[in-house]
Amino acid sequence: MKEFSVTPWDVKGDIDYDKLIVEFGTQRVTPELLERIKKYAKGDLHVMLRRGLFFSQRDLPWLLDEYDKGNKFYLYTGRGPTGPCHIGHLVPWIFTKWLQDVFDVPLYFQFTDDEKFLFKDMTLEQTHALAYENALDVIALGFDKKKTYLFTDTDYAKTLYPQAIRVAKRITASTIKGAFGFTDTNNIGEFFFTSMQAVPAFLPSVQAGRNIPCLIPMGVDQDPHFRVARDVMPKLGYYKPAAIHSRFIPGLEGMAGKMSASHADTAIWTTDDEKTVEKKIKKYAFSGGRDTIEEHRKLGGDPNVDVAYQWLYMLFEPDDKKIKTIHDDYVSGKLLSGELKMILIEKLNAFLKDHQKKREAARKVVDQFFIKD
Ligand code: TRP
Repeated sequence: MKEFSVTPWDVKGDIDYDKLIVEFGTQRVTPELLERIKKYAKGDLHVMLRRGLFFSQRDLPWLLDEYDKGNKFYLYTGRGPTGPCHIGHLVPWIFTKWLQDVFDVPLYFQFTDDEKFLFKDMTLEQTHALAYENALDVIALGFDKKKTYLFTDTDYAKTLYPQAIRVAKRITASTIKGAFGFTDTNNIGEFFFTSMQAVPAFLPSVQAGRNIPCLIPMGVDQDPHFRVARDVMPKLGYYKPAAIHSRFIPGLEGMAGKMSASHADTAIWTTDDEKTVEKKIKKYAFSGGRDTIEEHRKLGGDPNVDVAYQWLYMLFEPDDKKIKTIHDDYVSGKLLSGELKMILIEKLNAFLKDHQKKREAARKVVDQFFIKD
């Protein structure tokens, strides 16, 4: 068994998601829970749930119990603005948009310009500007303007800060070291930062003057923040936030780890044009095919390690019949690796064409989505 590690600032190795559930102490998304969610969605379960991309949760059954009693929740997620967005970044947001539609609930979206200033070799001007650029990708996904509140930490600091220090007062340095693996060489802003990420998990309750349940869709790497926050929040008189966690979409070069912003060629950026997408997939997408056509026809390919297949399975081919045909044809050798890649290229380019149009249109309305002090 290879080593792997998952923290909010570093994901590496061949991730064993079953082990992660045990290590993080979360609950599995069970078939029973899926059946339950399906009812709210009028029978139409999102592909990311059907195919197990969202695999883990905390207190989701409780959240649905409250919803059934008429105690509606709100959604909270976020983005650390370190650069442009790639397809992997969109995963939790696409799912969050689906949740907003199904449950008709508000969304609070945090851009942690402060975090990326503290943790990266970047200026605050850079991370702040990137937040507004990244917001175009968020808005392009179709969130309801009347129910969606975007903010950067520094532009909303007057509201966030008094709540963050209430959290910070309840967290010791040793808790932070345990949760995040920090040492005495980490800067003290890094120690404080998790308090800022905790605030949107209860801020709407502060503002409403009553407790409102909160559901946080996220990549599972962010869970340590909310493990800490969930210990603190009852001490402040609030509900613990519920969570639903996704696996990572693999980068083009292979299944280990996640799509990485630091390897420009192995990620598909939301602004990539058709030619670039085609070139990258053909050149870099790790193939589960055989070395020669003869061998492939005889022995078949391996969809489990094939990145093009995995992207289709997790995101771009929601039709269960079609994905099964692709799977079976690839395994039998009928479908070649190059043909499989072409299926993905077409799907991906169709998605990006639409996304890029909406992304540009978002420039006109982006200010209307942001809340500031
Ligand atoms: N820290 C996250 C990142 O680096 C951004 C973030 C802020 C976030 N609040 C969140 C992610 C809530 C998920 C849920 O990307």
